[in-house]
Amino acid sequence: MLNKKKKKKEPYDRIRPILEYLTFADSYTKRVREILKNNNLWITNEDVSYGPHTLLKLAYLKYYFDIALEIAKNYFKNYVFIDTFAGSGLVSIKDTEYVSLGSSLLALIFKSRSGTSFSKIIGVEIDENKFSLLYRRLNLIKEELNLATDIKLIKGDINKKIDDIANEINQRDYGILFVDPEGMEISLGDLSKMLSRSKSIDVILNQSE
Ligand SMILES: C[S@@+](CC[C@H](N)C(=O)[O-])C[C@H]1O[C@@H](n2cnc3c(N)ncnc32)[C@H](O)[C@@H]1O
Repeated sequence: MLNKKKKKKEPYDRIRPILEYLTFADSYTKRVREILKNNNLWITNEDVSYGPHTLLKLAYLKYYFDIALEIAKNYFKNYVFIDTFAGSGLVSIKDTEYVSLGSSLLALIFKSRSGTSFSKIIGVEIDENKFSLLYRRLNLIKEELNLATDIKLIKGDINKKIDDIANEINQRDYGILFVDPEGMEISLGDLSKMLSRSKSIDVILNQSE
């Protein structure tokens, strides 16, 4: 008798499609890249360049989105992604040709396996140029892909915008709060102010030395 047992996937087999998605090599994200290029919003010198570990961080984020939204859809109607250090929407990978979706753009276009997507993206960015790129990229992609996601982008220092963010979160929302700083700290007190708005917010904290 033939052994029909499925071959176990190696870790690279699992992460490869996620990396292709992030780096605009699959059919859905290739379309996003074309839209950005056609509107002169592809990678610029204003976008940051980070090492390859950035791809693993974003791959983890996408992996988490899929698990979290698949569970949340059974209990909640609205799903909010809160990006406290939002960046410009794109990240170039140092010493390579690769460009990756940044966290907020990833959250905007993300659809889980059952088609669940975020209802709202709240993003904060302090840098004027990055904020402007983020704003234009997210709104262009929303329009071109006809997405229903509500986009709230706030320009300024996260430490001074905690109340603005908290006011955007409703008690019945399911949220993912992503904290991805670049060396600066955010106080636990400030985090808890946002977390107290809903009982169902997961925190993903990227801490680098
Ligand atoms: C590591 S990057 C974020 C990358 C982004 N999460 C992504 O994946 O695309 C950190 C960002 O935080 C911004 N930033 C630094 N200090 C900030 C502050 N006090 N408030 C808001 N944004 C800040 C920086 O300008 C930078 O764009």
